[in-house]
Amino acid sequence: MKNIVVVGSLNMDLVLEVNRVPKIGETIKGEEMSYLVGGKGANQAVAASRLGNEVKMIGCVGQDTYGEKILKHLKEEGVNVEGVIKDEAIFSGIATIFKTTNDNSIVVIPGANDFCNKDLIDKNLDIIKSADILITQLEIPLETVEYVLKVSKENDVKTILNPAPATKINKELLKNVDFITPNETEFEIISEKVFNHSNELEEAMVSWQKENISTTLIVTRGKDGASYVEEDTVKTLKSLEVDVVDTTGAGDTFNGALAHGLSHELPIDEAVTFAGTAASLSVTKFGAQIGMPTFEEVKNAH
Ligand code: RIB
Repeated sequence: MKNIVVVGSLNMDLVLEVNRVPKIGETIKGEEMSYLVGGKGANQAVAASRLGNEVKMIGCVGQDTYGEKILKHLKEEGVNVEGVIKDEAIFSGIATIFKTTNDNSIVVIPGANDFCNKDLIDKNLDIIKSADILITQLEIPLETVEYVLKVSKENDVKTILNPAPATKINKELLKNVDFITPNETEFEIISEKVFNHSNELEEAMVSWQKENISTTLIVTRGKDGASYVEEDTVKTLKSLEVDVVDTTGAGDTFNGALAHGLSHELPIDEAVTFAGTAASLSVTKFGAQIGMPTFEEVKNAH
C-alpha cells in the first residue's frame, strides 16, 4: 500500500443541472440541484483512496455543517483527515457547478481553503516526510503550494502539481515539481499561448518541456486522452470511449490515479494510461466522486 498525501481544497459542491449556462443579466430555470462533497484536493484524495492507497489529506474546512459533512464523507472513503483543521472564523469552501449535458462551469468561493497556510504544513511535516508522493493544486494559497512543494523535495518526496485553477507558474516553484498536469486550457495560461489547432498545442508542449527539463509535463485532453513529451515528440495515449454523464472531477480522478501509478513506480506511459482509464470511468456517473473507480475496475476496463 503506497502512502499518498494530498495538500489542497475541500468544498461543498452545489451542483445545478441546467440546459445551458445563463448569460450576464439573464435568469434561466434549471432542472435539478444536489449538494455533493468536492474540492479538487478532496476529489484527488478520494480517487487515490478508492484505488487502494493509504491517503492523508491536509487542508482546512469551516466549523460549520458543510465542514462536518465533508470530513465525515472523507473518513467513510478511507481518507485520513487528521491533517484537516476546522477554522471557526470562516465558512467551508463552496463550489457552484453549472452542469450541462457534456461539460460544466464552476465558480469556487475558497472560504476556509484560504486558511490552508504554511503553519498547517509545518504542523504536518511528519505526514509529508513519510509520503511516497504528494499532490497539490491551486485552490489553496499559492505561497502554501510553493512551500509544501519545497518541503517535499527537500525530503525526497515525489511531487505532482495539478495547476487548477490555472495561473502563471514561476520557474522557482517549478524546480520542486516532478509532474505538472494541466488540461489544455490551463496549459494555455501556463505557456502564455493560445492554441487553435492540436499541432499548436503540441509544438508548445515540446518547447515548454525543453525549457523545463526537470518537470514532466502531462496535458489532459478530455476525450482525446492525455499527452506528454518523449524525445521531442508528443505521445498521446487515448482514453476509453464511454458514455459521458458528468465530466466534473475527471481531472481530479486522473491526478489521484496518476499518483497511484507513479508511486507504484509504473513507467510514464503505463501510469498515464492507468490514469486516463480511471478518468474515463469516472465520467460515466453523476458527481465529481461517485464514478471514481476501484483498482479492479480500472484493470478490468482494458
Ligand atoms: O475539479 C472539480 C472540483 O472543482 C469540484 O468538485 C469543485 O469543488 C471545484 O473545486
